Amino acid sequence: MFDSQVYLNRRAQLRKKMGSGLILIIGNVDAAFNYPDNQYHFRQDSTFLYYFGLDHAGLAGVIDLDSGEDWIFGNDVDMDDIIWMGVLPSISELASKVAVTLTAPYANLETIVAKAVLQGREIHFTPPYRGETKLELERLTKIPAAELKAKSSLKLIKAAVDQRSIKDKQEIAEIEKAIDTAYLMHTTAMKMAMPGTAEQYIAGTIEGIAMAHGGPVSFPVILSMNGQTLHNHDHSGILAEGRMMVVDAGCETGLHYASDLTRTVPVGLKFTPRQKAVYEAVLQSNLKAIEAIKPGIFYKDVHLLSAEVMVDALKAIGLMKGNTKDAVAAGAHALFFPHGLGHMMGLDVHDMENYGQINVGYDDEIRPSTQFGLAFLRMARRLQPGFVITVEPGCYFIPALIDQWKSEGLHTEFINYDEVEKYKDFGGIRIEDDILVTETGCRVLGKAVPKTVAEIEDLM
Ligand code: GLY
Ligand code: MN
Ligand code: MN
Repeated sequence: MFDSQVYLNRRAQLRKKMGSGLILIIGNVDAAFNYPDNQYHFRQDSTFLYYFGLDHAGLAGVIDLDSGEDWIFGNDVDMDDIIWMGVLPSISELASKVAVTLTAPYANLETIVAKAVLQGREIHFTPPYRGETKLELERLTKIPAAELKAKSSLKLIKAAVDQRSIKDKQEIAEIEKAIDTAYLMHTTAMKMAMPGTAEQYIAGTIEGIAMAHGGPVSFPVILSMNGQTLHNHDHSGILAEGRMMVVDAGCETGLHYASDLTRTVPVGLKFTPRQKAVYEAVLQSNLKAIEAIKPGIFYKDVHLLSAEVMVDALKAIGLMKGNTKDAVAAGAHALFFPHGLGHMMGLDVHDMENYGQINVGYDDEIRPSTQFGLAFLRMARRLQPGFVITVEPGCYFIPALIDQWKSEGLHTEFINYDEVEKYKDFGGIRIEDDILVTETGCRVLGKAVPKTVAEIEDLM
């Protein structure tokens, strides 16, 4: 973990942005896999990690905005725990690592919260996303579980988003560590992408690399010849000549900072001319977007630019036609590029998404669109130095979507459906990098995974 002062400073910053009341941060508990004693790998809640840093189950943190006190509630291990899990530091020893001096048994949390409720003090919490946390918050605050999201603290959400959006040097170093492991995951997958190899074998191998370097993966590995399915977790295919393999994968460091990279490679050693042409469209879209990233620009505008670059390239291939800007304004490109350009990344791979995307990627200046495709843009607001975001344009040929748009006669002035028909067996391509917004522009983070056609073919 970071130095104890980091957590003290983070809480001090948070206090400045908040008014009065009690901030209640419930850490995660162990989650049962198939019976209570057989559990998933423990993953601490990211809000708890950010402000209280401790990577242990069954803790809660309280920041009392009026008294100035910080508390950690948790239970010291007993002899049964020691027998099964070994000796663990006491709660007060743990708390001292994050500069908290006040600790109490977990049961005392109920008294503190009940007292605050009785006094009519505001209890600030973020929207819970796990069943156990919902039940715990319901028990403590007496707010019915179904109402917790609506009654979560917008003030706390906004303050935490402000803070967590700007990554400091230590956080960036952690993220780069995660990307360097992702480099190994991706280059290993590239070298394994030969006809006859099981997707599952490659997916398992790269997940193992994540685990071997701190791990786990930052989200379930996406790996498939059927890259037209955006989040394809079905790894049952056997790689076939003439197809491409999309790998969208990243890992967490020991401190739980994430990476999230995507590469698409030809099965076998070479891109076909048709694959190369579409690949170049996505690559140009990725590169031009990165070139445009700088403080002050709306990420929505970078998204639209990346769409325009792609439309220009698809026009050259013969898949689209007409005026590029008009096509993008109408949303015609979304037949091929139906998702957003990227998202924030940090302690969560989609950073802070549990706070509500509208609070993370949008603000008073820019609100979400309802247009198909653009509506999936997770990050639209103005960029600031210190933001870490992904740039992940993609081009997909989704037969069901093509059939629907064609039958409805959608955007016929911009789409050459006769040509598109020939690509229904193509699959999809996505290229994703993780970017730091700097004072003057941006920097692609981590060790560079081969990205151009020549680099990929060379490595393979
Ligand atoms: N891993 C999903 C994404 O790229 O956002
Ligand atoms: Mn990804
Ligand atoms: Mn991503």
